[in-house]
Amino acid sequence: MNNAIIETRKLSRDFGGLRAVDQVDLRVQDDTLHAIIGPNGAGKTTLFNLISGYIKATDGHVYLRGRDITRVPLHRMAHLGIGRSFQITNVFPNLSVLENVRLSAQALGHDNLKFWQTAKRFHHYEELAHKALQQVGLADRADTVAAVLPHGDKRKLELAILLAADPQVLLLDEPTAGMATEQVPVLLETLRAIRKDTGKTILLVEHNMSVVMNVSDRITVMHQGGVLAEGTPTEITANTAVQQAYLGESYHYDQPAHH
Ligand SMILES: Nc1ncnc2c1ncn2[C@@H]1O[C@H](COP(=O)(O)OP(=O)(O)O)[C@@H](O)[C@H]1O
Ligand SMILES: [Mg+2]
Repeated sequence: MNNAIIETRKLSRDFGGLRAVDQVDLRVQDDTLHAIIGPNGAGKTTLFNLISGYIKATDGHVYLRGRDITRVPLHRMAHLGIGRSFQITNVFPNLSVLENVRLSAQALGHDNLKFWQTAKRFHHYEELAHKALQQVGLADRADTVAAVLPHGDKRKLELAILLAADPQVLLLDEPTAGMATEQVPVLLETLRAIRKDTGKTILLVEHNMSVVMNVSDRITVMHQGGVLAEGTPTEITANTAVQQAYLGESYHYDQPAHH
């Protein structure tokens, strides 16, 4: 059985003398919401950056459906179907929510329509944008200027921008960071619904363990650059090594995430 959409083998990354990611073997199965958790400095964001091509590996490999993408340049990753969120997203503040999402569909969408079908093409992308806005629960904000959205809605807009490009896998680094506490479950429920409705795989990096427990199919725990444990939420909760790793970090649990 080899239905891993993303796989890493002995993936490593050094920063000077520091090994931030250390021989990580990760298997993300198709059609799952897979979370990577771990204490601050565990190497989660570095692993995320390696998978999405934002930085390059010192050693080891990244595979997308069995294809080695370790050396694929960043600008080609989106076209391969890897959609990642950036901490600073390309949201155009003066454009409407809908226009932002439509531009994303247009920029990365599968443009197989002829150039002379301009109106048809426009409507095609606008439909994709509407669909993405519905999926993230932002349809009633379509005509709002992006700049005036409250923070929680901005994160939803970022998600819609990613979805509109129709990636095979969504990579999200702490999507709930900076959100009001009551908004967090809303976003998580949105992610779960997207997973269910679109069948897309979601790889989620999260510092706060309690955030991912109810939505994840699989959880990988990182600690000091390596994989400490991998399993279902129930297995991870019961794992004593995981509890140890988080010990003394517990004061971070309900703090805003660090980057
Ligand atoms: N660009 C960088 N240059 C030097 N060190 C880095 C860089 N990025 C991350 N690190 C170091 O690598 C380790 C892992 O960091 P990171 O991947 O951000 O962890 P996490 O996301 O789990 O908090 C940390 O010790 C961090 O200081
Ligand atoms: Mg991080």
